[in-house]
Amino acid sequence: MTKMTVNNRPVQYLLDPETPLLFALREASNLTGTKFGCGTGDCGACMVLIDGVPLRSCLVSIAEAEGRVITTIEGLSRDRSHPVQQALVAEQAIQCGFCTPGIAIAAAALLEDNPSPSREQIDAAIPNLCRCGVYPRLVRAIERAGRVAARAEVIDAAPPPAIAPEEAARDVPALRTTTAPPRD
Ligand code: FES
Ligand code: FES
Repeated sequence: MTKMTVNNRPVQYLLDPETPLLFALREASNLTGTKFGCGTGDCGACMVLIDGVPLRSCLVSIAEAEGRVITTIEGLSRDRSHPVQQALVAEQAIQCGFCTPGIAIAAAALLEDNPSPSREQIDAAIPNLCRCGVYPRLVRAIERAGRVAARAEVIDAAPPPAIAPEEAARDVPALRTTTAPPRD
């Protein structure tokens, strides 16, 4: 049994300890916001925060994550009110959206350390691949999120999900138990 904290909740996985964290999150916890892109550490679609550090969960076994604190895109905020999420929507920096959760995780970690990053610092901190090529908008969104995080700008809350939470919980059972309090 491998124990860790996922989105503020204690979790125990009865899986092979060598199971990639990505698969445990997606298949066992139904936290499908974290995406399986390449599986080889190249794309960043699978990024989650492990003890606050953005890491590719396809390369981390659950044994390596034992005892750690994991934050997935579902745990960044429950209502899409994190500045990065707000700015990604406001700047229309999402096309297909497959890369977006990993980028949001990497950007949130960057802004936690540096709320006013330069473009060079953004490029260095966001190695994620986007097949749709929305990089210019992503950079603008991350800059804007920094201003929101620094309280120099306000963005109205991102639109609510188009699906009611109860309806989503029927399709994604993990949502029923993922009731961690919103971040401050
Ligand atoms: S799926 Fe992990 S880096 Fe691509
Ligand atoms: S928005 Fe489609 S891969 Fe980035």
